[in-house]
Amino acid sequence: MAFGKRSGSAATTLPGAPPAAAPAPKPAAPNPAAAATPAAPKAAAGPGAAPAAPVKLKTPEFKPEPVRKVNQHSDQYYATKTTIFNALIDTIDLSQLAQLDIESAREEIRDIVVEIISIKNVVMSISEQEYLLDDICNDVLGYGPLEPLLARDDIADIMVNGADTTYIEVNGKIERTNIRFRDNAQLMNICQRIVSQVGRRVDESSPICDARLLDGSRVNVIAPPLAIDGPTLTIRKFKKDKLKLHDLVRFGSISEAGAEVLRIIGHSRCNVLISGGTGSGKTTLLNCLTGFIEPGERVITCEDSAELQLQQPHVVRLETRPPNIEGSGEITMRDLVKNCLRMRPERIIVGEVRGPEAFDLLQAMNTGHDGSMGTLHANSAREALSRVESMITMGGFSLPAKTIREMIVGSIDVVVQASRLRDGSRRIMGITEVLGLEGDTIVLQDILKYEIDGEDDNGRIIGRHRGMGIGRPRFWERASYYNMERELAAALDSLNNA
Ligand SMILES: Nc1ncnc2c1ncn2[C@@H]1O[C@H](COP(=O)(O)OP(=O)(O)OP(=O)(O)O)[C@@H](O)[C@H]1O
Ligand SMILES: [Mg+2]
Repeated sequence: MAFGKRSGSAATTLPGAPPAAAPAPKPAAPNPAAAATPAAPKAAAGPGAAPAAPVKLKTPEFKPEPVRKVNQHSDQYYATKTTIFNALIDTIDLSQLAQLDIESAREEIRDIVVEIISIKNVVMSISEQEYLLDDICNDVLGYGPLEPLLARDDIADIMVNGADTTYIEVNGKIERTNIRFRDNAQLMNICQRIVSQVGRRVDESSPICDARLLDGSRVNVIAPPLAIDGPTLTIRKFKKDKLKLHDLVRFGSISEAGAEVLRIIGHSRCNVLISGGTGSGKTTLLNCLTGFIEPGERVITCEDSAELQLQQPHVVRLETRPPNIEGSGEITMRDLVKNCLRMRPERIIVGEVRGPEAFDLLQAMNTGHDGSMGTLHANSAREALSRVESMITMGGFSLPAKTIREMIVGSIDVVVQASRLRDGSRRIMGITEVLGLEGDTIVLQDILKYEIDGEDDNGRIIGRHRGMGIGRPRFWERASYYNMERELAAALDSLNNA
């Protein structure tokens, strides 16, 4: 054995060890559209729209939170695991272990753990022992108790609130799991391991950190003393197979005619803002829209954590950088967007607009980079535009409000609103175009709205995407320039007759 060992011999039993054969529950077939209730249950009826049936209002019932059994562990199991784990850590030389490839390291750990189990007289079945071995290997080599969650494809988010509490989002619903970390120190070690893979560190002196897992998942860690109840880790799981527009149609997030209008908007190089709440599907929608970019176009993407997956060959991906421990070296989104303009882009895609880069993006949009896009947090198209305005004002640009609004109407063509509804489904709530300024007011025109009719017996939202009767949107000319006016007329026709 490559590592020396020393160990005690206290007999331990493992009465609560889970059977190794108990696998994590099979992921349910993802059916995000299956459950849906509107986040903003206001049925947005435009002029001439039929009055929507009243939404059933329910008084919320508070029931004890169900805990999703990912792995069934008892306290004794954790106690035994801790004993064995501590003996293992005393025994192995972690720096030597780090030199081995993952398989040999696993073998090495297994050998030592088996020996510790026999020396300490721990009573357990073969399957229990196998389970414990995997568990300990995951702790030492991988992401510990997170591993079973990371292995599942049906999870959108993993939220760890200190060692004892972990939530996941599945099918748009947040549920509690019984995943537990040994203690906050173990959780902190795992956070540290995750962020060190992208050259960052998280500790008391720099307790906030954004990072990425090797598979591309977006990670945020906030540690004590800022997080009062222990290290808090949030992971947006990376989906290898990103949803496409036809998947959104299949889930009912958008109607077929609505999707066709979006395709034309993307193809005819409209400047688009995608607005929505947190986790409402903005990045997914942005990714879908980028699917309509011509392969020959030079596209530059700017993100805080690279999430977009453009399929085109000519794409340059840029990522912001936080300041280092001395507080220097930060590269902001604004730095990236400004730099983009010197890179001869044809389209600029900004993952999330949240600060003064709004100004540079608008400038890019009306200086020949048509078809640029970005997402931002807002609850309606109008709110999205006023957020852009306040980002510019707060960015220190001393421009009169009217000038900023002129810039906005001169650059943004369309705002698409996304929402996660209360039943967990994600919907496109509206496609709105920016018409112009009337006095000081920006004039908007809805092309499509999602109207909620109520909910079915299972609590799922029922509604439909309705056209607002617009036959010739402002981007008609663009569409006809790109030879798509017939398709647009047909799509609007079926939208308006839905
Ligand atoms: N229309 C949809 N139907 C079902 N699932 C969806 C839909 N849109 C997005 N999702 C899933 O929801 C999760 C969140 O999506 P996404 O990352 O696009 O949200 P976001 O609005 O960009 O979130 P954030 O505000 O955190 O950046 C992802 O797992 C994604 O696969
Ligand atoms: Mg996003």
